[in-house]
Amino acid sequence: SVVASRPTVRTPVQASVTRIGTPDITVVVPCYREAANVRPLVEALTQALTGRDWEVVFVDDNSPDGTIEVVRQLAQTNWRVRGISRIGRRGLSTAVIEGALSSSAPYIAVMDGDLQHDESRLGTMIDKLAAGECDIVVGSRHVEGGDNSGLANAWRHALSDGGIRLAQMMMPVKLSDPMSGFFALRRDLFVKTAPRLSGAGFKILMDLILSAPGPVRVEEVPCVFRPRLAGESKLDFLVLLQFLALILDKLFRGWLPIRFIAFALVGAVGVVVNILVMEALRLGGVGFGGAQSVGTIVAMLTNFWLDNTFTYRDRRLKGARMWGGLIVFLLVCSIGAWANIGVATLFLGTGEDWSSASAAGAVIGVVWNYAVSSTLIWRS
Ligand code: GDD
Ligand code: MN
Repeated sequence: SVVASRPTVRTPVQASVTRIGTPDITVVVPCYREAANVRPLVEALTQALTGRDWEVVFVDDNSPDGTIEVVRQLAQTNWRVRGISRIGRRGLSTAVIEGALSSSAPYIAVMDGDLQHDESRLGTMIDKLAAGECDIVVGSRHVEGGDNSGLANAWRHALSDGGIRLAQMMMPVKLSDPMSGFFALRRDLFVKTAPRLSGAGFKILMDLILSAPGPVRVEEVPCVFRPRLAGESKLDFLVLLQFLALILDKLFRGWLPIRFIAFALVGAVGVVVNILVMEALRLGGVGFGGAQSVGTIVAMLTNFWLDNTFTYRDRRLKGARMWGGLIVFLLVCSIGAWANIGVATLFLGTGEDWSSASAAGAVIGVVWNYAVSSTLIWRS
């Protein structure tokens, strides 16, 4: 019979053993530009997981510093080390998802590749899972014995605190550190949850808990978040937007695709109507101010009619309630228009170009209009 066997092991810990079958633990490490950290991390894991059956999979997005080459080189002489190289892709969460799905081990641990997470906690975390005490174990910076001093500066602390508060409002379980990127769970739970994940941004733990098919039992272990020694953080403005996208996706789960997209499309039609009416009036000799006002009002009326007819077909307003709804709609959209202009101006001030600034304004405008009109005007 054919037995898949691994090449001879040549790690410092275990010499000349033929490896057959999957290890117990897969440590998934998303990494981007971490070439200098790969080797120290493998050494740290080798220390921390002595006596356990483990492997590590680095998921790299074609880092320009050759991170994956360092991984491949280590893998030549150490079967515990694997690499996944993605080309033309970026993203911490999706990297974690692909690394975890490449595992056949019963347990999965996720940690950063920059040595900021304390690998010495891994044993305890896996033991808790194995004892069946919980479904997900989280390394927390905010329980007794944990520490968050490794966060780069006051700005990052403020951001982290705000994010934690926002996350806690949404989470079905009590967690002191829902933003942690250091956690472990059974592979079967991950595999079951994977098809429902958003995969946006950095917060894969939050994504997992909010997407799991049933309630999950979560436990926290104290963890010290160490300062980064080599390389730099990849958290930037886009990652913050992705965090908001993750929250929106979870909030609107189920009906975002249909109703929100419809609402946004109607909004786009309104923009076209506005421009057409303005141009027509301008050709007729009307001044800018007048043309703009009439164009805006006609666009709002068109939008109200389209939304009442299509977007909220199942909640359509008629008679007196329709007129009341229309007045509220005009008010809401006026505020949305001001928010739109305000945000666009703000973006322009940060050096963004015209089109991204107006796109940002439009997004804020449409989210506002949608959120308020679906709760105040066309409520279910
Ligand atoms: N493959 C891949 N692709 N990996 C990435 C990407 C990416 O686009 N972006 C970041 N990573 C990797 C980094 O190389 C690092 O190993 C890990 O993900 C965390 O990224 P950092 O850039 O070091 O993030 P951080 O230190 O600012 O934030 C971390 O700390 C948070 C706690 O405040 C993240 O790990 C969070 O998940 C964690 O909760
Ligand atoms: Mn980091």
